Amino acid sequence: MKKILILPGDGIGPEIVAEAVKVLDRLRADGLEVELEQGLVGGAAYDAKGHPLPEDTLAQARAADAILLGAVGGPQYEALERPLRPEQGLLGLRAELKLFSNLRPAILYPQLAEASTLKPEVVSGLDLMIVRELTGGIYFGQPRGVRTLDNGEKEGFNTLVYRESEIERIGRSAFEIARKRGKRLCSVDKANVLEVTELWRQVMERVAKDYPDVELSHMYVDNAAMQLVRAPKQFDVMVTTNMFGDILSDAAAMLTGSIGMLPSASLDADGKGMYEPIHGSAPDIAGQGVANPLATILSVAMMLRYSFGQGEVADRIESAVGKVLDQGLRTPDIAAEGQASVGTAQMGDAVVAALD
Ligand code: IPM
Ligand code: MG
Repeated sequence: MKKILILPGDGIGPEIVAEAVKVLDRLRADGLEVELEQGLVGGAAYDAKGHPLPEDTLAQARAADAILLGAVGGPQYEALERPLRPEQGLLGLRAELKLFSNLRPAILYPQLAEASTLKPEVVSGLDLMIVRELTGGIYFGQPRGVRTLDNGEKEGFNTLVYRESEIERIGRSAFEIARKRGKRLCSVDKANVLEVTELWRQVMERVAKDYPDVELSHMYVDNAAMQLVRAPKQFDVMVTTNMFGDILSDAAAMLTGSIGMLPSASLDADGKGMYEPIHGSAPDIAGQGVANPLATILSVAMMLRYSFGQGEVADRIESAVGKVLDQGLRTPDIAAEGQASVGTAQMGDAVVAALD
């Protein structure tokens, strides 16, 4: 029996995760062999235990076969010292579990072409995958901090550092994915300015020799940001550093109409993973029952596909989501101007019903 750790977290996290759990419960009733366990992370863990990633949560996470996470963070935690902030719960899980490969698909559901801020012809049929390095780069590089200079002025500093082995393993991860899709990989760097990403580019070239069937190209990150909004369909798979991937994946998400639609997977070398919607805790709408649960439900589909080898069940969830969109159900974030919308629980219930 596979074990899934459920970490609802903060803000809208508990509301959207509850809908994903409905889907899992329904699949279990149909014979899916998984058991669920709940845990605390982020601000919720800080409130209950004084730390965003308590020891017992980490132990639960290590023991689980996969993790479903809602979101972390909220304004009430912003004044805490950095190691106690909710985000550290998430970053700690990524680092401790060595979840170095972050897959962020951006797929436009045809039913939502009108919800994108871009023209329908620019985004219709969009299907791209961003592979973001998740446990290295400037997010984790040492030294880091804020120091006081001799003249009394403060200076903040972070370090962007990548080893060849780190670049190589995220490169391989991305080439493997590209091989199963359109066989085109675009590596995004800033090699014209940053030595570390010049090395990134060289290592990508080296790895490419093992994947002659995949076409590798390179793009500077500023151009990549522009191309994403100019002509996003030119991309199949993109691979990039932790911070560039953070930024580009938010941009890519918006192409699809709403960041509320997009799931993600963070995988270790053995395919164990943590799955989460790429949107955040949205404190502004938390508790109102209006958040879009589809990104979290689609994260369950990714879990079944990538960690449990249950591609068919994953397809079933994804087509159920397609069906509810066909039925015209929309949470406010994906509703067109003047279109009626449904709440979080109604949307979740509709997906469960559409699983039949
Ligand atoms: C993300 C988020 C996180 C990140 C934050 C919450 C630490 O923006 O998963 O993209 O920067 O990685
Ligand atoms: Mg982000």
